[in-house]
Order: sequence, then structure tokens, then C-alpha cells
Amino acid sequence: METPWWRDAVVYEIYVRSFADASGDGVGDLPGIRERLPYLKELGVDAVWLTPFYPSPMADGGYDVADYRDVDPLFGTLGDFEALVGDAHELGLRVIVDIVPNHSSDRHPWFRQGLRDRYVFADEPNNWQSTFGGPAWTQVADGSWYLHLFAPEQPDFNWRNPAVHQEFLDILRFWLDRGVDGFRIDVAMGLYKAEGLPDVQDQSFRSRSPVWGQPEVHGVYRAWREVLDSYPGERMAVGEVWTDSAEDLARYVRPDELQQSFNFAWLLAPWSPTAFKTVIDDTLAAVPFATWVLSNHDVVRHRTRYGTADPGTGLMRAKAALVTMLALPGSVYLYQGEELGLPEVEDLPPEARQDPVFARSNGKIPGRDGCRVPLPWTTGSPSYGFSRDGVAPWLPQPAEFAELSAERQSGDPESTLEFYRRALSCRRDLVRSIPYTLEWLPSPEGALFFTRGPLTCAINCGPDPVRLPPHETVLLASGPLDGDLLPPDTAAWMSGSPLPARRDDG
Ligand code: GLC
Repeated sequence: METPWWRDAVVYEIYVRSFADASGDGVGDLPGIRERLPYLKELGVDAVWLTPFYPSPMADGGYDVADYRDVDPLFGTLGDFEALVGDAHELGLRVIVDIVPNHSSDRHPWFRQGLRDRYVFADEPNNWQSTFGGPAWTQVADGSWYLHLFAPEQPDFNWRNPAVHQEFLDILRFWLDRGVDGFRIDVAMGLYKAEGLPDVQDQSFRSRSPVWGQPEVHGVYRAWREVLDSYPGERMAVGEVWTDSAEDLARYVRPDELQQSFNFAWLLAPWSPTAFKTVIDDTLAAVPFATWVLSNHDVVRHRTRYGTADPGTGLMRAKAALVTMLALPGSVYLYQGEELGLPEVEDLPPEARQDPVFARSNGKIPGRDGCRVPLPWTTGSPSYGFSRDGVAPWLPQPAEFAELSAERQSGDPESTLEFYRRALSCRRDLVRSIPYTLEWLPSPEGALFFTRGPLTCAINCGPDPVRLPPHETVLLASGPLDGDLLPPDTAAWMSGSPLPARRDDG
């Protein structure tokens, strides 16, 4: 059987507000993405995932959807969306869209019309907390309360009402009819809440919680899978599943459910060979087809996460982690700007911050704006090519973005961008010819060596150089090697036995 495209795809997450602004209002949009598709093709990704672009009051950057079947004027029109999908497909890029089934906006017509049986209302709140801080309940004029696991502007749907179920089947078809190749399912372990809404006893156990991961949610994904399979062309869905258990994660990717779920254990792992090895072993044992991700629009960029007092170390580690991740069996999700080596922007002024997490924690938690700063395309201020001349982007960019811009890095073999292009091209040449399985090799302290058929990968997380495992040729390295020695914070790919010839050397 042919391998379905998503099994080893490299998917690039586009946070739509921050990718490229063609309209000149300071906010990214669909025409901006369309103009930059050739950049993504050249980067070497297989698919893009677009974060929500639907009509929304933007209480949570678009994850508060008021109309699931249209495009917010801020981002363009349905016609722009169709043109974007058409261009992407012509370039051989697949398109995944975000679907937000756990909650809508409080401006959604159902909520505005007071259709209470479609949301979770109660006479008394229980002890559940909002993910964004504070209680998960808000009182309405008649004294009753509605549930919002996120911001108050995001009321949770009542999935025990069949009308909700039907509505989402119809929404999936709406976008599948417009040619999308798949869906990223927001808060995929939400949707159903335990009958009777009992108090949470232990906030730390997501996999045994009345709030998350109720067994009924799997019926939803079985029904969605039937819809996906009824369309031609290997349509797929990837679930955003935050859980503390690999077995729980595996339930979402049973053969008749979702094709993929995100594997956040990899992103949460510290810079440690034992932590990496444990996550890799647990993941490969638990799920039929793994996914790997280091950064997204909700977490601190991994360059900064891995950093020490020396900012260069963070970038070296980020590149080494990429080389390792690209060698693992399964598919990879990249986040816009990581190919430029962008750091988390940690010093945004409070008045610029828009993530509701910041306001709801009274400024105690900085929130997620630092990884959402608009991308630098050129060296010219004020927006480094993100927007039109003279237009300020919706979040301010730091001065260092000029040096990190795509324009500045393109063509410079030492740059992070050219390194990503080489790494993705190298992976493309190999990935279909190597087995899904992984075997560990004996590794010196601080390092991790593994093989996948003819490919050997080595990463050194320790403080001292280590000798590379036996090999014929080094195919790719995240930094300079010292003869046969792999320096600290560096990873490399080697061929052990004869490999198929490469098309180019990037
Ligand atoms: C997901 C999204 C996040 C959003 C939340 C609520 O976790 O990735 O950005 O705030 O869901 O929709």
C-alpha cells in the first residue's frame, strides 16, 4: 500500500495574524500567505496548517469563532481562501485548517440567540478553573452560569446535544468541499465533560479528569473519520491533545479515529538525552504513526526554551533538536519563524500584549504574544516587510529581527534559514526509503545515537565532544564538526551503509 502523505509530512504552522500582511492593516492575512507560498515551497515543507481565520471578535486571536463557514474581513474573503488553496495545490502543498469544536465565540448566533441547550449552563458553578486563569464559569442576567474552559468570551459547547454534533459534521464538509486536505482539531480532548459536572479533585491528572478526555469524545472522532474517508485524496485530522499519558494519547489515533495527534511530550522534554530517549520510546510504543513538534503559537519558542545565559547556545540546541526530530519516524510540525531562528520576544511592552492570559493573570503570566510577533521578511523597518511601508504591525518587532529576516538570511550558507532548507531537502531525499522503525546504538554519556536502516543520527547534549558512531559519510550537521568528533549541542546525520544518491547538496 502507498504511504499516505501525512505519515511522514513536514507541516508548517502559519499563525495567520503574524505571517504576512498584504492588505496593509498591520495584521497578517490570506492574500499575504498566498504571496509567500513560493517561500514555503522553497523551504521544502509538504503542507501548511492555518490557524483560525474565521469571523471572530478576536478575544483569543481567532480561537473564538463567531461563524465557522466564512473568513473574517481582517484576513480576506472566502474567495481569497479558495485562491490560496488553489495556488498551494498547484505548488504541491497541502492545506490543513484549524477547527475549534470545544467552544465558540460568545458572538456566535447560537449563543446570542440564547440557545442554551447547545452550551453548558448550570444553576451553580463547580470548582473548575479556566485554562487562562480564574473560574471557568460566568454568570448571566437570570442568575445561571455558563462554562468556559478558556476566556469568558469562549462558551463551551454542549456536545451531549445532537445538534452540536450535526453542525460540526456539516462544517467539516463545508471546508472539505473547498479542497482542504485536513483539519487541526483545537482542544481535541475537550468537547465532552463528565455527566453531572463533578468538582475536580486533582488538577494535575489530565488523563483522569472530569474536564478533559471523556470517553464519549472518541465517538465524535469516529464520525469525523467517516466523513474524512468519504472524500477522495487522503484527507486527515490531527488532534491537539494535551495529556499526561501516552496510552491516553493513543486512544485518539485508533484505526477508526484521527490519523494523528500532537505529541507534546517531545516539546515539553528538557535538554537531556535520557528525557529525549524516554519520550521517543514511549511515543513509538504508544502510537502507530508518530508526530513531533518543538514550537507552536502557544509555547515559548524552543530556541529560547533551550537557551542558557548564552543566547547562541539556544540556537545551536534548536538546530540540533531539528536534525534529531527530522530523523525520527513519523511526521514533523514546524512553527513559522523557527526556520529564521527567531527567539521568543520577552520584553513586549504590557500595553502591546493581547493574549487574554496576560490580562486575566493581572500581568503575572506574560502569555503567548512573545512567540506570535509578526515575521521579519526584509531588513527595512518599521515592519521588516511584514506589512506595507509605514504600517506598524499588531505586535512590535524587536530591532534584532532585521538581521534575522528571510531576506538577510537567504543565500547565506551559514544562516539558519539555509540550514533549514538543507535539512528539509536532505530529509525529503531519504524519508521514503528508510524504515519506520528506530534502533538505539550504544551512546557515550550525554549523547544519543540511533539508526533507521542506512541512516544514523547522533545528538550530543552533554558538555564534552563525543566520537561519532561508525559511518561512511556525514550527510547533514547542525553545526561544525571537529573531524570525527561531535561537539556539544550539535547533531548529525550519517550514512552507515550505501544510501540512495542525493539529488543535490543544497
Ligand atoms: C488551543 C489553541 C490556543 C487557544 C485555545 C483555546 O490550545 O492552540 O491558542 O487559545 O486552544 O481555543
